[in-house]
Amino acid sequence: MAKKLLYGMVGGGPGSFIGDAHRRSINLDGQAELVAGCFSRTPEKCLQTGKELGIAKDRCYASFEEMAKAEAARADGIDFVVVVTPNVSHYPVCKAFLEAGINVSCDKPLCLTVEEAEDLVRLTEEKGLLFMVTYTYMGHVTAKHIRQYIREGKLGKVRTVMAEYPQGWLAYEGEWGGKQGEWRCDPEQSGGVNCLGDLGTHVENAVATLTGLKIKRLLAKMDVVVPGRVLDDNDVILVEFEGGATGAYWTSQFAIGHDNDLAVRIYGEDGSIEWNQVDCEKVKMVMRDGTTIERHRGNAGIEPEAAKYGRLPSGHTEGWLEAMGNLYRSFIECIHAKKAGTFTEDLIDFPTVVDGAEGVKFVHACLKSNAAGNVWVDL
Ligand SMILES: NC(=O)c1ccc[n+]([C@@H]2O[C@H](COP(=O)([O-])OP(=O)(O)OC[C@H]3O[C@@H](n4cnc5c(N)ncnc54)[C@H](O)[C@@H]3O)[C@@H](O)[C@H]2O)c1
Repeated sequence: MAKKLLYGMVGGGPGSFIGDAHRRSINLDGQAELVAGCFSRTPEKCLQTGKELGIAKDRCYASFEEMAKAEAARADGIDFVVVVTPNVSHYPVCKAFLEAGINVSCDKPLCLTVEEAEDLVRLTEEKGLLFMVTYTYMGHVTAKHIRQYIREGKLGKVRTVMAEYPQGWLAYEGEWGGKQGEWRCDPEQSGGVNCLGDLGTHVENAVATLTGLKIKRLLAKMDVVVPGRVLDDNDVILVEFEGGATGAYWTSQFAIGHDNDLAVRIYGEDGSIEWNQVDCEKVKMVMRDGTTIERHRGNAGIEPEAAKYGRLPSGHTEGWLEAMGNLYRSFIECIHAKKAGTFTEDLIDFPTVVDGAEGVKFVHACLKSNAAGNVWVDL
């Protein structure tokens, strides 16, 4: 077994959400150990989390800039950093670690502007580093199955895609969804976009990953519906892909009754596929003669490239943490291969900085379309 990698974290302090999920999912395979962090902008809170997690005091840093410099200078410095701060700081944090020569795993959306995204792509390539963007849902075994199934042409040419991600947690005036909702609804901290940046980027990435389709142009209607909000909380987007296929996307934060209902329906010449991440253990396929096939994550019939990520026998449910763990499994394997000099691009089985940049370009094309009165915009 290869030696454990060492990693650090920026964000993930007291009361935060996704940082802890990253730590737990990385722990699933026991291939990396958390040894450093700048868990909060408040030094006391950073130390509090560091103490809870058993991190040495001298590796709990007061700022991410200090952390990047200090970790790069250590003989036993971190192999990668996990960036789990609100969107506004993704760019400066990722940039600091790339410049220090450290691999990066950053949560979505990658950053706020297209220029920032392109800069991170350039820096990653220039430095020869690995950069993962954790679009968690694409780690599900069933998602990997669909991607492989379509790649092999088993669905025929894709004709149209319907995709949505409705949530209902911000449905009322005066309710801001706590710490997590507050920064998402604040233009200063979320980059002038709320629902589409938070949920629409997942939809864009899911469709691109599952179908391999590339958006040619789109038309967006981004609405602010709940009184008191200043940023979008309901978005509908029409999409035309290169090659002629079409799509329709919907994201919402006031869809009462929905939690994290990312769902994709793909219609090809030879059949259709239906997948919902809430019911992620199964995928339904209907062939042109009406034959209905339901594949379950742990059963035979799942494409081998996807099945290899399963951890449990069928009937013992896997879920979202495992999906995130699957992304890390490939990311960590790639870092090991880089160290051993055996790395090749085909080893990458996680969303990269290039995929993250596509998400940012998608958001900005939607903003442009909406601002111009809901017109078609080329990507
Ligand atoms: N992949 C997914 O499915 C998924 C799900 C939820 C959130 N996210 C993304 O994860 C990111 C974090 O979201 P969250 O809901 O966990 O937010 P959160 O508000 O719960 O946590 C953010 C944490 O970052 C810390 N922080 C802020 N600025 C910092 C800085 N400059 N240096 C160090 N620490 C800093 C805060 O103190 C807090 O601990 C967002 O980009 C969000 O879009 C992704």
